[in-house]
Amino acid sequence: MKNALLILAAIFLAPLAQAQELKEIKLNAPDKNRGTAVMTALANRASVRAMDSRPLSHQDLSDLLWAAYGVNRPDGRRTAPTAKNDQDIDLYVALPAGAYLYDAPNNLLKPVVSGDIRPLLAAGQEFVKSAPVVLLIVSDYSRFRMNDPDLSRLWGAMDGGIVSQNINIFCAAVGLATVPRAYMDQPKLKEILHLSATQLPILNNPVGYPLVK
Ligand SMILES: Cc1cc2nc3c(=O)[nH]c(=O)nc-3n(C[C@H](O)[C@H](O)[C@H](O)COP(=O)(O)O)c2cc1C
Repeated sequence: MKNALLILAAIFLAPLAQAQELKEIKLNAPDKNRGTAVMTALANRASVRAMDSRPLSHQDLSDLLWAAYGVNRPDGRRTAPTAKNDQDIDLYVALPAGAYLYDAPNNLLKPVVSGDIRPLLAAGQEFVKSAPVVLLIVSDYSRFRMNDPDLSRLWGAMDGGIVSQNINIFCAAVGLATVPRAYMDQPKLKEILHLSATQLPILNNPVGYPLVK
């Protein structure tokens, strides 16, 4: 009986213990004075499917996340709009050591699970496995204050697409490589990230420095 209890405790506490191996990462304040003019960024935006595996600098990672979905007003609203400001989007950050959740109000990354989840995001596209960071955009459609699951999913997909476009434009403006991607192993990602039934992975963006030609 005692052994059975120990085994059960090990099974249920294992994900918690894994997440505890990772430490919270405090992000820098965003540098709002960087990047090209918006028309130049739009002119340069393109999907790039090859990138350097070297880690992003801490400032680049901080600015990338703020541009994607950071808080840009005192009332807590974001750089990306969401339907009715219900803020259904969560941004997961896959680094080689593990996955984190972007806590925008506190400007930090919260550990979710240790270990490399990039192969689950890659779904056959090899370059994703060595991208230094992959951002996973997830909509929790239960946050919409309406009782229409079909419409909620549609709105969630739209909100996620806008966050991805923020990432695309930021990367084009500062010379980073990225591509919006729908391919990923949804069931396994939902399991490993402990997503609820109403949390839907929408898109992911691998991000890295461009390869020198
Ligand atoms: C919703 C959506 C899903 C996409 N999924 C993938 C994907 O899984 N893998 C990939 O390599 N590119 C993906 N792309 C990128 C498109 O293939 C790319 O945007 C398109 O070929 C146009 O090229 P451009 O972005 O350089 O203009 C996706 C784009 C969008 C908008």
